[in-house]
Amino acid sequence: MSEPVKSPALSSEARQEARAPQGGATLDVEAVRRDFPALALAPYGKPLVYLDSAASAQKPEVVIETEARCYREFYANVHRGVHYLSAKATVAYEDARRKTARFIGARNPNEIIFVRGTTEGINLVASSYGRRHVGAGDEVLITTMEHHSNIVPWQLLCEEKGATLKVAPINDRGEVELDELEKLMGQRTRLFATVHVSNALGTINPVREMIALAHARGIPVLLDGAQAVPHMPVDVAELDCEFYVFSGHKAFGPSGIGALYGKLELLQEMPPYQGGGEMIRTVSFEKTEYADPPARFEAGTPNIAGAIALGTTVDYLEAIGMDAVWAHEENLLGYGTALLENQPGLRLIGTAREKVGVLSFVMDGVHPHDIGTILDREGIAVRTGHHCAQPVMDRFGVPATVRASLALYNIREELDQLAAALAKVRELFA
Ligand code: ALA
Repeated sequence: MSEPVKSPALSSEARQEARAPQGGATLDVEAVRRDFPALALAPYGKPLVYLDSAASAQKPEVVIETEARCYREFYANVHRGVHYLSAKATVAYEDARRKTARFIGARNPNEIIFVRGTTEGINLVASSYGRRHVGAGDEVLITTMEHHSNIVPWQLLCEEKGATLKVAPINDRGEVELDELEKLMGQRTRLFATVHVSNALGTINPVREMIALAHARGIPVLLDGAQAVPHMPVDVAELDCEFYVFSGHKAFGPSGIGALYGKLELLQEMPPYQGGGEMIRTVSFEKTEYADPPARFEAGTPNIAGAIALGTTVDYLEAIGMDAVWAHEENLLGYGTALLENQPGLRLIGTAREKVGVLSFVMDGVHPHDIGTILDREGIAVRTGHHCAQPVMDRFGVPATVRASLALYNIREELDQLAAALAKVRELFA
């Protein structure tokens, strides 16, 4: 494989397209694109068309620079040193917690726990809250559209405790039917855990209604926000969910950092998830007292530079405005859906009425991996496979899909390129 090289500038048509008002969007996509150095790459000499942000998003220069500057200029361990560098790193780390709280609408920064990402956040809740509140004969409720990270931790818990995992079905569009969900909320349901937005289908769940149904029965709710936070405004206090989790790397921030939001009164009564340094008040061989949240759940040296760069990421997104991001992507999704719907032999998997920019599809007679490989040679990055959501694939009777996923930096011309490359695929396999 040849080394990626810098691409030529966008064509003038693409520039015009980027500047044209798109369904009320106020996002200056051309300026946004310049912020992301990876978008200037040209794999195989073709300008990169990056349609794999749902797997992991590209990073703006300001985020890359913050992480590098932290290591160059103010790196030391946090909460531990009396010296200048430690104090500086600690202030930046705790600032990042405040920014992250503000970004997702948490009213108290102590409700934000830095974790490695969504997967660790869900495991933390399953291990700590779950172990304390789920017992033999109890139930944990999820939906068919969950990512494996919101299935397996609950399976492990249920297996350990003798509890049952209940799964709400989805319809042919890839939506949870609320009356079916409600039927599964019973006296023994101890937690309802669901994606806010599906990674494989793009479905935006009606989480307000879901939370209201759960709360009417005293059931706490965990939302997996990994695919929501990069695309829309989120306000956890307004949603009133008990737990909310997201990953930095899908939201244009570093990998290896994410946040778990939990209502403070729940975090305060939850036992530690991991033991180690920084999560204690006092330690003796007879008795150890734990620190208050969030420290109780951040054992060991955290991802200091990653957390600080996550703070810069949310500053960056707030400056653009998540409403503008949402409007831009909604417009692109409409455009892309129309393009793909018109492709002969192509079936979209996931046609919910409320969706983010995820275009998952299969094509008659061509394996998704072959499609992915051909698209790659055209410089188009998509994900192919089961997207860590095998039950979703089973539900739609396919082993895998091709998934083109959109983000704030994508433009219509890229979707035109995708459609043209798919036409080539069809010719090759005709
Ligand atoms: N969860 C990521 C995806 O959907 C990796 O691709």
